Amino acid sequence: MTQQNNPQKAAPLEGLSLLQHVYDPATFRQQGHALIDLLADHLEAVQHQQDPTVMPYQNPEESYTYWQQELLAPLLNDPLPLFEAVIKRSVKVHHPHYLGHQVAVTAPAAALAGLVSTVLNQGMALYEMGMVSVPMERLVTELLAQKIGYDSSSNGILTSGGTLANLTALLTARSMKAPSNVWTEGHQERLAIMVSEEAHYCVDRAARIMGLGSAGIIKLPTDERFKMRTDLLEQYLTQAKSKGLHVFAIVGSCCSTSTGSHDDLVAIADFAERHNIWFHADGAHGGAAVFSQKYRHLLNGMERADSVVVDFHKVLMTPALATALVFKKGSDGFNTFQQRAQYLWNSSEADWYNPGKRTFECTKYMMSLKIFVLLRLYGEAGFAAAVERLYDLGQKFAAMISTRPDFELAMPPECNIVCFRIVKNGVADLNAYNLQCRQKLLEKGHFYIVQTTLRDVVYLRISIMNPLTTENDFVLLLDELTAIQHES
Ligand SMILES: Cc1ncc(COP(=O)(O)O)c(C=O)c1O
Repeated sequence: MTQQNNPQKAAPLEGLSLLQHVYDPATFRQQGHALIDLLADHLEAVQHQQDPTVMPYQNPEESYTYWQQELLAPLLNDPLPLFEAVIKRSVKVHHPHYLGHQVAVTAPAAALAGLVSTVLNQGMALYEMGMVSVPMERLVTELLAQKIGYDSSSNGILTSGGTLANLTALLTARSMKAPSNVWTEGHQERLAIMVSEEAHYCVDRAARIMGLGSAGIIKLPTDERFKMRTDLLEQYLTQAKSKGLHVFAIVGSCCSTSTGSHDDLVAIADFAERHNIWFHADGAHGGAAVFSQKYRHLLNGMERADSVVVDFHKVLMTPALATALVFKKGSDGFNTFQQRAQYLWNSSEADWYNPGKRTFECTKYMMSLKIFVLLRLYGEAGFAAAVERLYDLGQKFAAMISTRPDFELAMPPECNIVCFRIVKNGVADLNAYNLQCRQKLLEKGHFYIVQTTLRDVVYLRISIMNPLTTENDFVLLLDELTAIQHES
């Protein structure tokens, strides 16, 4: 319903005076100060666990009805009640008991950078509309390239999420390795990519968007630790060739989403080099470990990948979305798209300062500022500290599980993702039992954890995203799960 056909909500101002009111700096100043106070109070309350509710679950229909009514209620020139309701009804990612999906527990300074970006709203497709953020983007991706171990011929871009970055990398791979020019001629041959069965679903989706079909995504089985069976690569390639498929890319997961398992990137690099296949490393989650001396070894071989994706908006404390796609040979990135946009730029030159030539997006958020501000304030040490704290906590949680007889691990964790389950004697259907216990845990609202199914076995799954979570929070989680078992 618009304001016009809702008499109750008729704005007192109209036309130019309404617009002058919309842009009034004094109102922004006053409301902005009040909002920062509100958010700081929220952070204080959840960090210190004054409010025990992490997950204020509402069913979708109930939530829709609530917001439908809110839309009709006049705000009387004060957006604060709306923001209060949003905070109250959202998952509290800053709560130390938030152990759910892999979203960053945002560093407040990066959120302030987000506010600057949204007010200034630079377009970013071309240099003229991104004179600050474009050079920052180059600096941030150059730093990442250096951490990966690439030389100075490397560079990259920032883009809107790991899903889009993986698709972009595979488009580049196809341009570089497919025998014909797919951009102008379409597929002249049947193309395929190789990937582990545990890869994030966005890789499968990317392959299908690219028109490769089911046959064009060859899924390698995984071993007992859910890593790609690289011993089968030659056999699978021979089979693909015998079916007339041209494999142009292989994707290594570092790490996989469900279990946090790292594929053997060295073996994948050897294979890719032997067969002139593009090697893409999907480090959306685990690529962050390039900042940590302690955990960099998990990514051995990444420096040999043709392209790498790292989400800053997961382990690295940056608000969504902020994903880097870095190419070993920076010039490759200019072959991803072959569009001409005369109104934006005059030449197809490989200039680093017009991001639209290399990104899917035309208008793009100033995402580099959010990363840049964290680097300025805390240096690389800030990112290293986050990775090490979260990955160390993964080890500690696993050690704790081993001391509790009614729990078991799916496998020893490699990072901050841990899969475990309740194993209660006398329960016939442990899968149903674990699902039930998680549901009860969610209903209590004091913890947010997720679940996954690995080879038909249901596991509870935590991704430890909050550096302020402590071992005591793990004790409380396991105690609450134990109490739930006694209730049932
Ligand atoms: C390994 C991996 N790749 C890709 C993605 C997708 O990234 P995004 O959520 O930024 O689109 C994820 C998300 O969890 C992931 O874990």
